[in-house]
Amino acid sequence: MKQITYIDEVEIKNKIVLLRVDFNVSLNQNYTIADDARIQQSLPTIKHLLKNNNQLIILSHLGRPKGVDEKFSLKIVVKRLKQYLPSYPIVLAKTLEEVKTKKEPIIVLENIRFFPKEKDYSTIFAKKLSSLADVYVNDAFGVCHRSDTSIIGPPKFIPGYGGLLLKKELHMLDCIVKKPKKPIAAIIGGVKVSTKIGLLERLAKLVDYLIIGGGLANTFLSAQGYKIGKSYCDYETTQVANHFLAKQTSKKPYILLPKDVVVGENKESKQPEIVKIEDIPFNKSIFDIGPETTAEIGHILAQAKTIIWNGPVGYFENPSFRRGTDFIYYSIAHNNEAISILGGGDTLAAISKKEYLNKITHISTGGGAMLELIEKGTLPGIEALKR
Ligand code: 3PG
Repeated sequence: MKQITYIDEVEIKNKIVLLRVDFNVSLNQNYTIADDARIQQSLPTIKHLLKNNNQLIILSHLGRPKGVDEKFSLKIVVKRLKQYLPSYPIVLAKTLEEVKTKKEPIIVLENIRFFPKEKDYSTIFAKKLSSLADVYVNDAFGVCHRSDTSIIGPPKFIPGYGGLLLKKELHMLDCIVKKPKKPIAAIIGGVKVSTKIGLLERLAKLVDYLIIGGGLANTFLSAQGYKIGKSYCDYETTQVANHFLAKQTSKKPYILLPKDVVVGENKESKQPEIVKIEDIPFNKSIFDIGPETTAEIGHILAQAKTIIWNGPVGYFENPSFRRGTDFIYYSIAHNNEAISILGGGDTLAAISKKEYLNKITHISTGGGAMLELIEKGTLPGIEALKR
């Protein structure tokens, strides 16, 4: 059977390595780094490769720029990387030609999404990237669900290996999907039903408790006929949501939608109000789950033996609306018996700098990638590395 070879299973020495990482860190509104977990998590791979005297050409995207956009330059990432690797000269190169002229041990190519052929897969661009190096290493688990050129292209032309973060992520997710301890609870937040429906269908077959929160829950509530005021709702997919609920005829999984919520006039509101879902004011929006819902989730999470969490359940950036998300985090952290896996940029940002992070079994650097792997069992970036 074809499989991935990881960098700790082969000797990669004195080579030029094209290293794809996911340095798509969460940014503050002023485009400074809010959370650099993704940089930190790739350090073991970077250090492993440097130890063997390899030169690294690092590729990453940041944000979703449409062409060159200074706001999404990797300059801030290079600056942060220098803090973590003070003894190595690190330079930023704007073009592939510039990369070829550099001699430093770490060269970071400017945001790979500034290159038009990154999103729009191109064999020519893949060949050009590959021609810069001897081997390719993918440590970018968070973006392995995309068929972008730098993810699936280079291993067609030069030997491709998995990095240490990729190895860890795949191992942990495999444990959860293949041999999960029951009962299993999944908490899924996020926004669009259309992008999550495949996952919800898959989870419905896998888990015992499916907790739906965040903007996603609004669409489900609206589909059930509740008036949700000015809350965000993906109105085009209410039918999909209804169809999903109608299909769940057995007791498993128990699907939990909010029974009460916290509403406000807008995201910045400092006057949160707790209401039942039957009583949502027409001029307010839902920004968090309410205490009754939170208590029920707490009860479920206390008994769960496996917990999967992706997506905050409220607008956690405003302290008035982060109680539900915080409560879920602490409930998971305090369940010493459960295997827990958390993922997604927003989830990472919501729990960053919290105490008890070491009590979480695995904090995935992938959001969409983690969910798609659970849903489909593999990802384009993983398949591309298999030999
Ligand atoms: C992520 O943040 O989930 C990954 O970096 C992928 O980013 P994308 O959704 O913009 O492709």
